[in-house]
Amino acid sequence: MIQRPIQRGLLLVGTFISLTVFLSCAPRTMRSVVDSRGFLFGVAVRPGDLLDPKDSKLLKDNFNILVAENIMKLQYLRPTATFWNWSDVDNLVRFAEENRMKLRGHTFVWHNQNPPFINNLSDKEAALKVLTETITEVLTRYKGKFYEYDVCNEVIDDNGVLRNSIWMRTIGPEYIDIAFKTARQADPSVKLILNDYNNEYAGTVKGDAFYNLVKGMVDRGVPIDGVGFQLHMLAELPVNKEALQANIKRFRDLGLTVSFTEVDVRIKLPVTPEKEAAQQAVYEDLLRIAREENISCFVLWGYTDAYSWIPGTFAGYGSAHPFDQNKQPKKLYGSLRKILEK
Ligand code: G3I
Repeated sequence: MIQRPIQRGLLLVGTFISLTVFLSCAPRTMRSVVDSRGFLFGVAVRPGDLLDPKDSKLLKDNFNILVAENIMKLQYLRPTATFWNWSDVDNLVRFAEENRMKLRGHTFVWHNQNPPFINNLSDKEAALKVLTETITEVLTRYKGKFYEYDVCNEVIDDNGVLRNSIWMRTIGPEYIDIAFKTARQADPSVKLILNDYNNEYAGTVKGDAFYNLVKGMVDRGVPIDGVGFQLHMLAELPVNKEALQANIKRFRDLGLTVSFTEVDVRIKLPVTPEKEAAQQAVYEDLLRIAREENISCFVLWGYTDAYSWIPGTFAGYGSAHPFDQNKQPKKLYGSLRKILEK
């Protein structure tokens, strides 16, 4: 039946009103909250997270930046001198593009999770070739795809000196500058980051050693754009806000950005309401400071206790993430959301 113009008009108006009512009643996702604040809120993922429909929906509903928890480490990405394992990384890049998410790269230069052919390097020339070739190959393939990249990770040890890694032993301390220069040459657009743990507080042995290393790089004109504070925290240790903010300020003063790259807050088991409250306070302080200081990005090292790295590394600790074993949001999740909604 042919509708008269007035009927068609009424139908259109009715549809528009129902759609508006539906959309305004639909709960806003965390993703829409962080997008509307222009805040980069992310998480470390495993390949399976992108394939499982429920997990991938959770990622899409909550986060706008992702990092690979393991697959971009050289043990997996370049297990032999001639074999490159691109497929999982290609999937991650595609997933991020399809869902308008940014990506952090993690990591080229590390003392851990290297393949045997790297661990067995003994000659400076050969090590330099592997280092520069790896960085160039990856950043050429993914040119323009990554927002930030942890060019080097954990180069300072717990005593505040350059770590005795395979790169240090074969090439010497200049391996760090060389890695950053090579990365800049391969992809001028990606932000180049030096990432570490226990580097978040000014006035600590490691925090100050990390700062001095970075200041030296800036003074030498090495192309570093920012620093990463991993922030693997303990619920029982409140955040030292003054030392964290003083540290952020001094990196800013060098012209660098600061990213919170691997945030988690572990609880000494068993979990009690008091310990959860302490954990929530640590997460909240970090997130508030991240927002106040306009941090480059705030990335969780895992979203669910179901896949957490914590119990395997810190015996007797757990419950470190905002979603529980069943991937249900904890009270903590609601409190983080409130801070992000402000
Ligand atoms: O791939 C093997 C698998 O084949 C085997 O069956 C399984 C059995 O244990 O192990 C698998 O490898 C594990 C790997 O994660 C992938 O799941 C390793 O044992 C395990 O040691 C490794 O742990 C990773 C750890 O880095 C290695 O140091 C964690 O998942 C990862 O979360 C963690 O991430 C680091 C950051 O890169 C740097 N900052 C610290 C952070 C936490 O340690």
